[in-house]
Amino acid sequence: MDQSDEFWWRHGVFYQIYPRSFQDSNADGIGDIAGIINRLPYLRSLGIDAIWLSPIFPSPMADFGYDISDYIGIDPLFGSMEAFDALIAAAHAAGLKVILDLVPNHTSDQHPWFAASRKSRDNPKRDWYIWRDPAPDGGPPNNWMSEFGGSAWKYDAATGQYFYHAFLAAQPDLNWRNPAVRTAMYDVMRFWLGKGVDGFRVDVIWHLIKDAEFRDNPPNPDFREGRPPHERVLPLYSNDQAEVHDVIAEMRRVVDEFDARVLIGEIYLPPKRLVAYYGRDLAGAHLPFNFALLSAPWHARQIEKIIHDYEAELPKGAWPNWVLGNHDRPRVASRVGQDQARVAAMLLLTLRGTPTLYYGDEIGMHQVAIAPDQVRDPFEKNVPGIGVGRDGCRTPMQWSAAPNAGFSTSTPWLPLADDFVHENVVNHEADERSILSLYKALIALRKKMPALVTGNYVPIAAEGDLLLYRRQGPESSVVIALNLGAEPVELQSDALGGEILLSTLMDRQGEKLDGVLDLRDNEGVIIGE
Ligand code: NOJ
Repeated sequence: MDQSDEFWWRHGVFYQIYPRSFQDSNADGIGDIAGIINRLPYLRSLGIDAIWLSPIFPSPMADFGYDISDYIGIDPLFGSMEAFDALIAAAHAAGLKVILDLVPNHTSDQHPWFAASRKSRDNPKRDWYIWRDPAPDGGPPNNWMSEFGGSAWKYDAATGQYFYHAFLAAQPDLNWRNPAVRTAMYDVMRFWLGKGVDGFRVDVIWHLIKDAEFRDNPPNPDFREGRPPHERVLPLYSNDQAEVHDVIAEMRRVVDEFDARVLIGEIYLPPKRLVAYYGRDLAGAHLPFNFALLSAPWHARQIEKIIHDYEAELPKGAWPNWVLGNHDRPRVASRVGQDQARVAAMLLLTLRGTPTLYYGDEIGMHQVAIAPDQVRDPFEKNVPGIGVGRDGCRTPMQWSAAPNAGFSTSTPWLPLADDFVHENVVNHEADERSILSLYKALIALRKKMPALVTGNYVPIAAEGDLLLYRRQGPESSVVIALNLGAEPVELQSDALGGEILLSTLMDRQGEKLDGVLDLRDNEGVIIGE
């Protein structure tokens, strides 16, 4: 990639690494920075352009790094600052951008800021966090719920007030209405950007500002038993507040102090509200993550509607993006099935917008069942048994058939998938029709065919399990035909011509079409017109 290209984040393919589970280099069963450096040749061979690392900063690990106790250090579990500098240098030398996770909504309760804040009501850091008096009955100040179960307020007996935590009590929320908090976090951003980091994925960016009056959230009339308890109320006042966009515009200005960096926002909202995060005049996040496919029912008509609704809401000039998996949601191969995982890969890499891959999805890694005594995720521990656990999508990368899948020479922090002896990078690299080979071919084709990157998205009417669209570039176009079903599909159309560039089954390249297309079950093709 052209390193000076200001818009690299539009053309590139992103790859999320969950560092604990990618590659261990020091035999402690936990992945680390040196391990990532060792695997840069693999990342290059995939053809991706940027890696995003989930948090690697000092942390008590109550939420595996999303509870930060020092924003400008590296947790010794992952290595040292020297190791990090070496990673940036080696990644850049390999033509890969590096994106860090910024977690500005909350710190660890072990962060010195919070230690000071909880000391006394008149501590200068008191107002860096969100402290409120008890309700008249002594209970929490309002009905806001923690995403990880229970009230979002924890009573602090020493000072007689409650503090707010949208996630664990060990993750107190910062008060983003306080200008000193903003300045401190912008300096954190400058620290990493100054080191050459290419941007940030900002954790729960839509949570940063809460209602100034702390009004009760309304009950959720659609709540169903079996759903996570925080869904009992609608988060009307606890997130997605209008003022958050001023904060994000400020963050964007910090990022823009440096050349060619990217600001990505983690946001789970419906399309209309999501696209507001591009900001007024696109001065907000470059890429508000679009998670619509993470929970999409896997039906052609529903996916078609998801694409349509998102495309329709995008502000003029806003660049789209798509995500199929991350460290919080069940693996795509388990959601849609192994056969459809290939079709999903073709969808992700042929839609209009920057794709983000989740480590291991390229070898079809599935959700791993975690026995109760092996649960590590605090969400599952707090809200057991309803399927919210995130350990199953965070299991070690399956590199080879070696002990511990080549991930570590000791027992990994989470169990490996039972099928790693067969489903691993070495085997997939040796098989020219593996899902890994498909991912590589899709990424390579995206690089070769500008229509797949910058072409318009043009839906083509289709029925049943068939999803059909064209990517129309100024000079060339391709048609994508995806069979989301388990039965063959025949498509006849005079407009159907050209040549198959790629099939998800990797065996039809070069086949000429003349008005008829036969798709096998679970097959997708890209047709060059
Ligand atoms: C979103 C992160 O992706 C998730 O892993 C984490 O638990 C919460 N934010 C809290 O930081």
